Amino acid sequence: MDLSLNVNGRPEQFSAQPNELLVERLRDGLGLTGTKVGCDTGQCGSCVVRLDGRSVKSCLVLTASAAGSQVTTIEGVTTPGGELTGLQEALRQEHGTQCGFCTPGMVMALGEFVETALTDDAADREAPTEAEIREWLTGNLCRCTGYHSVVRGVQRACSAARAEEPVAAPVATSGQEV
Ligand code: FES
Ligand code: FES
Repeated sequence: MDLSLNVNGRPEQFSAQPNELLVERLRDGLGLTGTKVGCDTGQCGSCVVRLDGRSVKSCLVLTASAAGSQVTTIEGVTTPGGELTGLQEALRQEHGTQCGFCTPGMVMALGEFVETALTDDAADREAPTEAEIREWLTGNLCRCTGYHSVVRGVQRACSAARAEEPVAAPVATSGQEV
């Protein structure tokens, strides 16, 4: 069947089998290999992309069911100039990535979390708690970080965004490398 998607702001038209998965179209069809496949069964979250703004596991989405939608992958997150988003910078500063395999899916899933935490409706509430961040992360498995540094990164990103400031570099303390 002939289908179309908008991927990272670019219109894409192609022919696909009815049983093709979105992750297959992104990686194999469009060469967007930043989206990873860790399990292929909807458990690990390494394949998360944004579909019309919502974070979804692209190994659980048929390409045909996404036809006509806007898809954002990790390749579409950074600015045209290649600058990291506040969330990416905060994760970098907090060492929220090690081997990096889970990171694209984390960034895509947590991007929705950070945006949601900063909506007008949430403007008056407290910054997201560690428990809220960890609950959001239950769909994203990481074998390296133990999640502590990821949580700190999200907290740093949310704090900076709520203050409408860029993510600040860590403050060096005596005798401590940052
Ligand atoms: S590859 Fe999709 S959830 Fe693991
Ligand atoms: S950084 Fe290695 S799996 Fe998360």
